[in-house]
Amino acid sequence: MKRKVEKIRHILLQGLSGMLIGSIIPVFVTLSYMGNTGLAPNWANWWEVHVHNGTLLLVDVVPVLFGIMLAKISADRQELKERRQEYVQVKTELDEQLSRWKMIFDHTPVGYAVLDRELNLVFANRICGVLAGAPVEELIGKKCYDCFGSGELCDGCPVVKAFVSMESQTGSKKEVNRQGEENILEQIAVPIIKHGQVEQVIEIMVNVTEQAHSLQNRHEELIATIDTMVGIIELKDGYTGGHSQRVRRWAVRIARSLGLPEQEIIDIDIAACLHDIGKIGIAGLILNKPGDLTMTEYEMVKKHPVVGSDTLAGIPRLENVSKIIRHHHEAFGGSGYPDGLSGSEIPVGSRVICVADAYDAMTSDRVYRKAIAKDHALAEIKLGAGKQFDPRVVEAFLEVVSEHKVIQFPLAREKLS
Ligand SMILES: [Fe+2]
Repeated sequence: MKRKVEKIRHILLQGLSGMLIGSIIPVFVTLSYMGNTGLAPNWANWWEVHVHNGTLLLVDVVPVLFGIMLAKISADRQELKERRQEYVQVKTELDEQLSRWKMIFDHTPVGYAVLDRELNLVFANRICGVLAGAPVEELIGKKCYDCFGSGELCDGCPVVKAFVSMESQTGSKKEVNRQGEENILEQIAVPIIKHGQVEQVIEIMVNVTEQAHSLQNRHEELIATIDTMVGIIELKDGYTGGHSQRVRRWAVRIARSLGLPEQEIIDIDIAACLHDIGKIGIAGLILNKPGDLTMTEYEMVKKHPVVGSDTLAGIPRLENVSKIIRHHHEAFGGSGYPDGLSGSEIPVGSRVICVADAYDAMTSDRVYRKAIAKDHALAEIKLGAGKQFDPRVVEAFLEVVSEHKVIQFPLAREKLS
């Protein structure tokens, strides 16, 4: 408000000054005219419009026009000055903000790059240079896959997907940078949409190499531990060697045939390996008893799914595995143990292992009986569909057996690691 009043005051002053200056000019013009024409000066009304011999003297209009003109010029100059000051102020603030953002971008451990429609880098922060193993200045104008890839467009590139779908996309890739360092990058591609099309894409890259290696080490340790535990179980139970490994192979093949998600297959793989871990707590004399078990002994053996499940329950990574183990002796019809679950109440992994376990048990020699023929075992499995076994799992198992599908056992282990 104060600024406005000041501005009006300035314009009025300038206007009045203009009128004053403008008054002097017509006075001299009039005097000069009268001097030339011999007319006596009439000071009383010199500001009026004078007409003499067809000549119009706008002696009273000129000062006003001059005043207005000067006031207008002054107002414009004032406006220009203020706008210039505002511009300088805004620019300074923007520069400061830009500098702050740049500092944040350059000190974050995340790579930020902006790519145009040709996949050329138009912006990259400091960490992008670290990921690429080259100075940031060298990256600008280069293709993203030349900076953070193999030199060829990556399969399933989230940046390309973001350009096409106009939506944010995620992905991951391995890159060997210019320093020969191998990095594993998690990517997020965010489209910048302008006038209905994706003009640029922001690629956010997180280096997860260390976490991935650490995870891989942990998986390898887990697998080594599992192998050791399986060896102990089989030694104690007197199984012919490799029961757990065979159950594991069948279970994974059935799970793949059923089209289960990869994570579920990995869990089934581990659970199949450890399904009888609860037998560690049962006396070897009972497990290896050649004759029939007493009711008490049988009740003790029946505890092994719960004991095994409880043993693993404290490991967060094996929560689902623990559940699968607990229910691997449930029957599809509801007559199994320990909880008498039926149908889809039984975890799918448990239903899969149940079939694989039964088939291998029937076709293997045990201390208390000899193995039966494979055809005979298959017939028993078919008979048990809907009662002991899930019919869908039996169908998948028979399909696996008949087609002799060769699904490599190490596949699941590779996925796990
Ligand atoms: Fe069992």
